[in-house]
Amino acid sequence: MSPWSWFLLQTLCLLPMGAAPRRGAPGAANCELKPQQSELNSFLWTIKRDPPSYFFGTIHVPYTRVWDFIPDNSKEAFLQSSTVYFELDLTDPYTISALTSCQMLPQGKNLQDVLPRDIYCRLKRHLEYVKLMMPLWMTPDQRGKGLYADYLFNAIAGNWERKRPVWVMLMVNSLTEVDIKSRGVPVLDLFLAQEAERLRKQTGAVEKVEEQCHPLNGLNFSQVIFALNQTLLQQESLRAGSLQIPYTTEDLIKHYNCGDLSSIILSHDSSQVPNFINATLPPQERITAQEIDSYLRRELIYKRNERIGKRVKALLEEFPDKGFFFAFGAASQ
Ligand SMILES: *[C@@H]1O[C@H](CO)[C@@H](O)[C@H](O)[C@H]1NC(C)=O
Ligand SMILES: *[C@@H]1O[C@H](CO)[C@@H](O)[C@H](O)[C@H]1NC(C)=O
Ligand SMILES: *[C@@H]1O[C@H](CO)[C@@H](O)[C@H](O)[C@H]1NC(C)=O
Repeated sequence: MSPWSWFLLQTLCLLPMGAAPRRGAPGAANCELKPQQSELNSFLWTIKRDPPSYFFGTIHVPYTRVWDFIPDNSKEAFLQSSTVYFELDLTDPYTISALTSCQMLPQGKNLQDVLPRDIYCRLKRHLEYVKLMMPLWMTPDQRGKGLYADYLFNAIAGNWERKRPVWVMLMVNSLTEVDIKSRGVPVLDLFLAQEAERLRKQTGAVEKVEEQCHPLNGLNFSQVIFALNQTLLQQESLRAGSLQIPYTTEDLIKHYNCGDLSSIILSHDSSQVPNFINATLPPQERITAQEIDSYLRRELIYKRNERIGKRVKALLEEFPDKGFFFAFGAASQ
C-alpha cells in the first residue's frame, strides 16, 4: 500500500463496498486492447521453496480498474497460499483507529490555532466548495449503491479541523471529482485483504502503523505549510478553470496494467500527492519542494524497504513450511 493513502483507506473502510469480484469492469481498457492471458505482464515474483512463496505488487486504486489485467497465475498464487501478509493489517480495527489517531492534532488543538489565517480561510472555503459539489460529482452507480454525498463528505472530511496539517493536505488532494467518482469500490490492496479474510487465510502485517505514520508527521512546520499552500493553489486554479491537473492516477493504472514496473516505481504511487516540484516555482520554493521530496523518499521508500526486507526474511526463516503471499505496494518495492 502506498504510504500516501492510509486516510483514503480509513474512510473507504467505513463505506459500503461491493464484496464480490466484478469482472469486466467499466473502463478496464487501458493498456491498449485487452491483451491475451499469455501476453499479460505481472507483478508476481516467486520464492522457490516448498511450498513456494510469492511477492505480489499491489496498487492503491479501485481493484475493478486493474483486476482483468492481473494474470491468472497471480490469482492462482494468491489462492494457493495459506498465509497472506500485507504492509499493514487493513482488516484489523486497531490498525484503522491507530491510523486515525496518528493523524490528529494533540488534544485540545484544532487547525484554526495552528495554521496561518490566510491558509486556514482558504482551506475552509475550499472544503465548503467541495461539499457543495459532491452531489454533482457522484455517479448514478454510486447513488444506486446507497452512497450519499453528505455521508461521503463526512466520512472523508468530517473532522478536518482536528487533523494535522499534513493529513489535511493529503485529504484535500484526494477530494477531486475523479477521485470522488471512484469511491465505494475497494482499492486492490484492501480487496485482497478482504478476500484473504473471506477465504479464511491466515493474515499478518510486516509494519506497524506508527512506522508509516510518523515520517509524515516528521515534516517540519514550514515544509507542511508550503505543501498545504501549494495544494490549495492547485485546487484553486482547478476551481477557476485555469489548470488541468495531469491525472496521475490514470497514468499509474495504465502503467500497472501494461506491467510497466519502472514507470510505476518512478511515479512513486503519488496519485494522492501533488507534485510540488513545479518548473514555474521560484528558486527558493523549488528547493523546499525538493527537500520535501527527498525526505519522503528516504523515509517512506528506502528506510521502509530495508525494514520490510528484514521482516520478510525473518518470517521465511522462521516458518520454512509455510506458503506465504506477500502483497506490498508495487510503487515502493
Ligand atoms: C525545516 O527543514 C528545512 C530543511 O531541513 C530547514 O531548512 C528549515 O529551516 C526548517 N524549518 C523549521 C521551521 O524548522
Ligand atoms: C503561498 O504561495 C504563494 C505562491 O508561491 C506565496 O506568494 C504566498 O506567500 C504563500 N502563502 C503562504 C501563507 O505561505
Ligand atoms: C506551479 O506553481 C505556480 C506558483 O506557485 C502555480 O501558480 C501553478 O498553478 C503551479 N502549476 C501546477 C501545475 O501545479
